[in-house]
Amino acid sequence: MTDKGSSSLPPEAIISLEKQYVLQTYTRPDFVITGGDGVWLIAGAGHRYLDGGSGIAVNALGHGHPAVLAALAQAGRGPIHLSNLYHNRPMTLLARDLCQSSFADRVFFCNSGSEANEGAFKFARKYARVILQKNDKTGIVAFSGSFHGRSMGAVAATATEKYRAPFEPVMPGARFAEFNNIESARAAINGQTCAVIVEPVQGEGGVTPARPEFLAALRRRCDETGALLIFDEVQCGLGRTGALWAHQAANVSPDIMTIAKPLAGGLPMGAILLTQAVAGAITPGDHGSTFAGGPFVSAVARAVFGLVSQPEFLAAARQTGEYLHQKLEALARTQPAVTAVRGAGLMWGLVTTIPAADVVRAAQGQGLLIIPAGPKVVRLLPPLVITRAEIDILLEKLTAAFKKAW
Ligand SMILES: Cc1ncc(COP(=O)(O)O)c(C=O)c1O
Repeated sequence: MTDKGSSSLPPEAIISLEKQYVLQTYTRPDFVITGGDGVWLIAGAGHRYLDGGSGIAVNALGHGHPAVLAALAQAGRGPIHLSNLYHNRPMTLLARDLCQSSFADRVFFCNSGSEANEGAFKFARKYARVILQKNDKTGIVAFSGSFHGRSMGAVAATATEKYRAPFEPVMPGARFAEFNNIESARAAINGQTCAVIVEPVQGEGGVTPARPEFLAALRRRCDETGALLIFDEVQCGLGRTGALWAHQAANVSPDIMTIAKPLAGGLPMGAILLTQAVAGAITPGDHGSTFAGGPFVSAVARAVFGLVSQPEFLAAARQTGEYLHQKLEALARTQPAVTAVRGAGLMWGLVTTIPAADVVRAAQGQGLLIIPAGPKVVRLLPPLVITRAEIDILLEKLTAAFKKAW
């Protein structure tokens, strides 16, 4: 098969080939993005979109960031892949960096958020079996509005029926309590629970922060029942909320934390961070992943983490986040379709009376890419490097989109 001439195919031809050959699990708009520059994405001559979604919280440093480009070039000169059968310098140093900047003592690397949550459940079950010596302590408690991924364990802990029901039977043992409801959580977590999984700020479920008292109550209940507390910071972690870790706002520490999306600057990477107490249950051969923590992806992740974890970087993200927040509150005062603004840092949801998909489509017409979070929440996840001037442009476009959709 020849690829001759395919790089010059017009966007309409690419869209038509996508409809013919790509499994239709996503509904895509009718433009083709071919480049990026800072917070901008480029779709052919003259078409620029302000990236208000960062590839769903992945492109934290925007597009073409010099630190990422330099790390890619440098890492490309070393081995791309080694296999986890051998020592690997960038992966080891990245694990050290992550532990030294968090509650964790150990890291297991993987390739995605789902894979991280999947591994977290396995570690929790092994911990209950080996350390607590309880074979029937296998239950997982998750919450309404949660999203933890698409694999059979992660989707079992994902609240939205439509993601789960068509694929049942999924992993048994998961049940749901009401998010931010302490009584509901206390009732659901019992002696059979091996782990409680919660997003400190729910993303897909509508950009809803967990109340600090709720996270503290989960910590207490887990300690009472011997369950492990897992924070899923796949979307809200790594600077997104203006703190390195979203749970720092509540001052509550988990036993396990899962991260992924922005970790390697756009390359696929996830990680499970855990305390030594949990790590003590895991022995060689218990878990693995062929591509995980390869030297190339780890070297790039180290460069990203080196930047994102700097106090000055986080302070700047907090300040632009607060600026964005104020602007969104002002929009909500003048735009009747917006009934609430919620989130933290550079992760915001606008609760709307009109379908979020209509606003997202109208925003595309204005040259702005944003994402729905459920049917009635419009989600903003701009790159963490966005400037105030770029936020002003974002707000102009968003205001125009609301006027069109309303
Ligand atoms: C909070 C959270 N957990 C897990 C996942 C799953 O991550 P992935 O798509 O990388 O498997 C997502 C993806 O959106 C997420 O937002």
